[in-house]
Amino acid sequence: MYRTHTCGELRLTDVSKTVTLAGWVQTERRISNALAFVDLRDRYGITQLNFSGDIINQLNETPLGREFVLQATGTVNERSSKNANIPTGDIEITVTAFTILNKSAVPPFTIQDDTDGGDDLRMKYRFLDLRRNAVRKNLQLRYAVSRSARNYLHENNFLDIETPFLIKSTPEGARDFVVPSRMNPGQFYALPQSPQTFKQLLMVSGYDRYYQIVKCFRDEDLRADRQPEFTQIDCEMCFVEQEDILNMFEGLVKRIFKDVKGIDYTETLPRMTWEEAMWTYGNDKPDIRFDMKLCNLKFPAHTFPGRPDISSLIAGEFAVFNDAETVIAVAAPGCSEYTRKQTDELTEWVKRPQIGMKGLVFIKCNADGTYKSSVDKFYTEDKLKAIANAAGAKAGDLVLLLAGAEERTRKATSELRLEMASRLGFRKPDEFKLLWVLDFPLFEYDEEGNRWVARHHPFTSPKPSQIADMINNNPVIENAAEYLKHPYASIKANAYDMVLNGNEIGGGSIRIFQRELQEKMFAALGMDKEEQQHKFGFLLGAFEYGAPPHGGIAFGFDRLCSIIGGSESIRDFIAFPKNNSGRDVMIDAPSAIDDKQFDELQIKLNLK
Ligand code: AMO
Repeated sequence: MYRTHTCGELRLTDVSKTVTLAGWVQTERRISNALAFVDLRDRYGITQLNFSGDIINQLNETPLGREFVLQATGTVNERSSKNANIPTGDIEITVTAFTILNKSAVPPFTIQDDTDGGDDLRMKYRFLDLRRNAVRKNLQLRYAVSRSARNYLHENNFLDIETPFLIKSTPEGARDFVVPSRMNPGQFYALPQSPQTFKQLLMVSGYDRYYQIVKCFRDEDLRADRQPEFTQIDCEMCFVEQEDILNMFEGLVKRIFKDVKGIDYTETLPRMTWEEAMWTYGNDKPDIRFDMKLCNLKFPAHTFPGRPDISSLIAGEFAVFNDAETVIAVAAPGCSEYTRKQTDELTEWVKRPQIGMKGLVFIKCNADGTYKSSVDKFYTEDKLKAIANAAGAKAGDLVLLLAGAEERTRKATSELRLEMASRLGFRKPDEFKLLWVLDFPLFEYDEEGNRWVARHHPFTSPKPSQIADMINNNPVIENAAEYLKHPYASIKANAYDMVLNGNEIGGGSIRIFQRELQEKMFAALGMDKEEQQHKFGFLLGAFEYGAPPHGGIAFGFDRLCSIIGGSESIRDFIAFPKNNSGRDVMIDAPSAIDDKQFDELQIKLNLK
């Protein structure tokens, strides 16, 4: 046995025991020729080793270095100067014998919380980065989340069933990663974007409660919350309605918060329709840790039927507002004293290509009850006051207004709301606000192809009351500019997302389970019979053999972990992540393959 205890274990109650520890040298401090301290580290903590007396000569003969692997035997003693910052800080080991189990090259960065290593270096030496406390804690949290999820799902009768990785394309909105088949030259597998069709087939097979913590592969542009291979907690149930799914998986997330964070969510999670979310927050994954609701001063009537028209508030001589399709305001609390420099900087911020607005209008609601605005010459103070009131602004607030085309303006105001909230410190990482967003549109308009695409995926069912709208109307969009007026634009799906702190952590739907309706859906998405049969013949066929009503959900496991862990980036919660170009810089993948491999696959490379 290499060790009797771990480096995080020994306390005052162990004093005078003889112990053997094994670990990595964190630091060595030479106090004098006769005394040296070494901090020995393992996964469990750090223990101070005291080298004095005869042993110091041996240490002089075989000097240690950072990250050397060391085994040390000695007696546990009470320290004279204690370290209150670590659990083992009351004791030290007076070393009587030690062995260097392995040497280490000088690590390229320090293995400590505040490391001097930059992102790229740490990714290249990820095996060293993983030794750091901060990263280890993240992986421990990830394990705690998965254990909690597994316990809950097991207790609720779910079966963990594996599904294949070498499959046929499953459309989830991204590109597929493909794998050539040596045994079937010229043919390719696709890696699953999710196990969607397989979990539906398991329902047809009668496994009424399925789950899997499973890798999914999507070739899409990467962001802080996206990786090309990521993990889902993927679930499916049969003989359920939307309400059953919401209850079951609300239970799952509550259980995770209870087990991992000790937070008790006793109340039912808030529910918001997609329309309400877009109207109030300009976003289908609203961050509700703070208020700052949008004020819709002007919008195309058909986009939000039945919502009040308050455009008279901005009626006047200001051409920008008069010409705009949409004008939306948001009030930033306590920002009325923003200087010219600050408002100029905000204006530049909204003009950045990512936001894409032409300018920013503001109204300062001064503490003395007066109003000052960048459009003073077009609006009387009474008018400014009325607009500010409509935006919910109080004295001391700054009202920000954006104007332009509907979709862009809504998105930009949502981004501005989040930006201001970040600047104001309203997006606290240790506060967790969950909600369900429901009743998503079934279809999304694809501008490039002037056609409909499935907003969630093609297996999602429409609201039963709108099935007729889907069947009885031609999907063709005659007038691209007015696609929102097409009957398909208002068909809602039996779909739901779970949102945590402004992030979509999970999404799912009640599925289509009749062949006929599934065929109608594929046809609406522009797939002819032949293509349907080629791509999804297996599913359509299965629906003829007693497919039960079913539905499910998948949670973004990495995302859930990163938000619970208070980080923006999911990479921190993945042992071996890819960088923003989809590369693993540690193993240097992707990389070229041998000519022999191409020959075996009967593939000739013809790079363009
Ligand atoms: P969806 O595509 O919404 O649904 O994915 C479910 C959840 O997975 C997470 N996610 C990602 N996480 C990291 N990197 C990515 N590239 C990435 N893409 C998605 C998100 C998302 O909410 N089969 C359906 C589920 C169903 O209908 O049951 C599906 O995959 O948190």
